Amino acid sequence: MNTGLDYSPAAVPVLKAVFMEKFREEILDGLNQTPKRLQSKYFYDKEGDALFQQIMACPEYYLTRCELNIFQHKTAQLAGFIRSYFNKEFDLIELGAGDATKSQYLLKYLADQETTFTYIPVDISGNILSLLKKRLIAVIPDLDIRCLEGEYLDALSNAIELSSKPKVVMFLGANIGNMEPHEATVFCRSLREHLKPGDLVIIGFDLKKHPKVILNAYNDQAGLTSQFNLNLLTRINRELNANFIIEQFEHYQTYDPCNGACKSYLVSLQDQIVTIGHKKITFTHDETIFMEISQKYTLKEIDFLAENSGFMPVHNCADPKGWFVDAFWKVV
Ligand code: AVI
Repeated sequence: MNTGLDYSPAAVPVLKAVFMEKFREEILDGLNQTPKRLQSKYFYDKEGDALFQQIMACPEYYLTRCELNIFQHKTAQLAGFIRSYFNKEFDLIELGAGDATKSQYLLKYLADQETTFTYIPVDISGNILSLLKKRLIAVIPDLDIRCLEGEYLDALSNAIELSSKPKVVMFLGANIGNMEPHEATVFCRSLREHLKPGDLVIIGFDLKKHPKVILNAYNDQAGLTSQFNLNLLTRINRELNANFIIEQFEHYQTYDPCNGACKSYLVSLQDQIVTIGHKKITFTHDETIFMEISQKYTLKEIDFLAENSGFMPVHNCADPKGWFVDAFWKVV
């Protein structure tokens, strides 16, 4: 496995083995629950990364374009805000950096302004991080970049061990929406525990809007979201020696405008037994696997989340349609 990351070659097989054991345990645990569930953090293998790139470019999936608009057209405002808080060196940590298409504008702007900072992208996908590093170095040759592969908070702990500089933590792309609201609170509180007073976080939230717009974004005509969900079964087949018959499952999406929960499921199209390694999982006809939540928020709910987890909301940067917001919170 060549991820191009900052790990010694000897550590890589060990990390991979630890990851595979956790992957197996969490998949089996989720499929033994009632109702069954899988975790969407596992969507992102090589095929999943490619499918997500296609989703972000598809006409119905507005989220990426909205946040891109903010980073492209409000770059000076975003950078000015960060610089007004930090007049010395800082670490800019991006949790779930993906391909950094959006943050790239901010990084370039800060670099052009001769701001001294280290960019630390964190992602669960080593594949995407190695691509990101190559791409960013080509665009911003002077960028001081250190990639960290892993789960958000583990990687944040590692980043904190690397330096004691003030931190700006970005968590863009509405990734926070992939947590249930109570999990988002636990996550934000834990994020707060890792940081020091004066540090800053920038979190991207998808806002509540017309329910049809939201549902269509996850029910795209090309069937990309469906493939994205089904790809996890293919991944389990390949990596955990399982025998899901993909055609025997169907993607089903819901959105509840009252609570803002947009949820995806896979439905079993018949009674069937699937083997994963030596374990057997039984599905009844029409039984569902809960795959992912993409939670939508109001501005009031975002402020409440900040205050409820030890932050002070200081600024909201929205796109022109008011569909998406990057919220700036200060650690108090
Ligand atoms: C990464 N995450 C914010 C996306 C979302 O909108 O929940 C993942 C996604 N799932 C289906 N389409 C996109």
